[in-house]
Parts: sequence; C-alpha cells; structure tokens
Amino acid sequence: MKNRKDDHIKYALEHESEYNSFDDVELIHSSIPKYNLDEIDLSTHFASHDFEFPFFINAITGGSENAKKINQKLAKVANECNLLFVTGSYSAALKNSNDDSFKIVKKENPDLQLATNIGIDKNYTAGIAAIKALNPLFLQVHVNLMQELIMPEGSRNFNEWENNLKEFVENINIPIILKEVGFGMTEDTIKQGIKLGIKTFDISGRGGTSFAFIENMRRENSLDYLNNWGQTTVSCLLNLKNYTDKVEIIASGGVKNPLDMIKCLVLGAKAVGISRTILELVVKYDVEKVIKIVESWKNECKMIMCALNAKNIQELRNVKYVLYGKTLEFSMQKI
Ligand code: FNR
Repeated sequence: MKNRKDDHIKYALEHESEYNSFDDVELIHSSIPKYNLDEIDLSTHFASHDFEFPFFINAITGGSENAKKINQKLAKVANECNLLFVTGSYSAALKNSNDDSFKIVKKENPDLQLATNIGIDKNYTAGIAAIKALNPLFLQVHVNLMQELIMPEGSRNFNEWENNLKEFVENINIPIILKEVGFGMTEDTIKQGIKLGIKTFDISGRGGTSFAFIENMRRENSLDYLNNWGQTTVSCLLNLKNYTDKVEIIASGGVKNPLDMIKCLVLGAKAVGISRTILELVVKYDVEKVIKIVESWKNECKMIMCALNAKNIQELRNVKYVLYGKTLEFSMQKI
C-alpha cells in the first residue's frame, strides 16, 4: 500500500509556486551603518521559550520509513545548528504503536529544541499522547480545511473543530500554536483563535508548499483550479499588522532564503518556519552540506540586518518597505 506521508513528500517536492509574494516587498536599506556585523543579535522569543535564531524547521513528516530517515536528517541539522525542530503531525504515530519515526529524533538528539504537531480534527487526548511521547516545547494544532476537502480520504465533518480547539486550550499544559499548512490566516481567523484562548499563530501562507496541489495529485479527478487556494504569506502578515503586539505571529509558507526570512520579521513575525526549502536540501544533499548552508543562512541574516540598521528582531520592525503588484493591491483593500 502506498503511504500517504510518502506521497506528501514526493508531491511537495514536485510543486513550484507560480507566484512569490516576497518579490513584491522591497526593503529600504541604509547607506550609513549603525552597527558592526558582530553586534547583530538574531535571538527571539515565542511560545514561552527563547530561541537563538529566528528561523526553524517547521512541521514536515513522520510515519513511514522514508519519513523516519528524513526526520533523522532534519533533526541532526537542527541539533548541530541549534535550531528548533518541529515534527510533522504526531497522529501517524498514534495509529501505529511500532512507529519510531518521531521518537528517534529525541533519542538521537536529547538536547534538541523539539516541538510537535497534531490536527485540529483530533481530540485533545491525542495531543496529550504526543506530549507524553516527545516532551515538546509546544504543540502546534494544524488547520487544513481545503486539504481535507480535496483529499479523497479526508474529513467531511467539521463542526467539531472549534470545540476541539477549545478543549486543546483547556486541557494542554504547554503552549499551543494554531497553525495553517500553506493556505494562510487572516484577521477573522485570528479573532476566533484569540476568543478560544490562542496566543500564538503560525499563519503559514500560500507561496510554497500547496496541499491543494499535493492532494490533487493523489486524487483521480484533479481539482487543479484550486491549487492556488488561500492567501499568500506576505498578504497575511500585512493583514495582521495590528495584531503583532497583541499575539505572537509566526510566519511560514514559501520562505526560500534569508531575505524572505528578514522580510517576514520586518512585517512583524516573531519567527519564521521553513518546510519545503529544508526538505529539498536534506533530500538532495548529505547532512554536513545542509549544516553548512544553514550556518551560512545565520550569517546572511546578520548581513541583511546590518544593511537595514537593525540590531535585533525588534528593530527590524522599524524598517521601511514598499510593496508592488498583487500584494500592494491586496494591502489596499479592507478585508
Ligand atoms: C507539511 N506541512 C505540515 N504541516 C502540519 O501542520 N502538519 C503536518 O503534518 C505537515 N506535513 C507536511 C508534509 C510535507 C511534506 C510538507 C512539505 C509540509 C506544512 C508545513 O508545515 C508548512 O505549513 C507548509 O509546507 C508551508 O511552508 P513551506 O513548505 O512553503 O515552507
């Protein structure tokens, strides 16, 4: 039988988004610098934890032999580079008591900053089981409505979701992050989440991995006109500018390089999650080479911050920018 998790990896790597919202953002640089390169501080804080770097490996996988190998490589990179690592949805392990594709990362990297993930369609007890198994720093609860709808074997009943989330908040004693999977989140969703007690949101927008594309590749009659469903990462961040001091906004979706990361931080994100870009690297290269690339990203982030006269993540919020194209059009409309 074909494994769904292997399909996700395969089709995620086949898809290239046609449109990159980061190209629509131009940062205004400074010609007279204030800081030396080694004065730049990349550290950040969210979900009640300090992190040395403002980017992390976001939820990807678990639940198959291939997923286990990928998790081992990703976790090694995260451990060596002192990055946060978030596993894919833990529900794969709950279905199979022999699964060790998640636990192995902890076993091999006991000091790793680790978090995990579960779907909002699950009862909070699934979250408790995941926490018991992995002792994560926080739990991501993912929302993926259009994915479920396109997925042939996906959920068809959704009116439990809101109550499930409420119960997660009431019964889970570590921080919870409400997370999209590449369709984006805007103000109305954030307001609903705040009402239910959520303090941290990963808006995971359109522009990178498309779970509409992935599920369309897995079904007989492709609904490929839905492949670009949702809002882009930059549009979501612009839409949520008034919320960046009220809640913690994490950005992900289509982040390819340190300039994209810095743009997310300028737009108010506390940290930046990367899935497809790092998945592609660990599939293509050995761990040592990926570690070198990630180490270089840290320096590149510092270079860009230096050229923007921003000493830390907080100061990045003062950086001016201009918008172009579809992103500008989006930003001019009240939604
Ligand atoms: C994902 N993503 C994901 N998200 C989640 O909340 N739970 C999950 O189990 C998975 N699984 C998963 C598998 C694969 C192969 C990929 C590439 C991605 C979504 C991911 O965390 C992120 O939100 C989106 O992929 C958008 O970011 P990128 O990929 O454009 O950087």
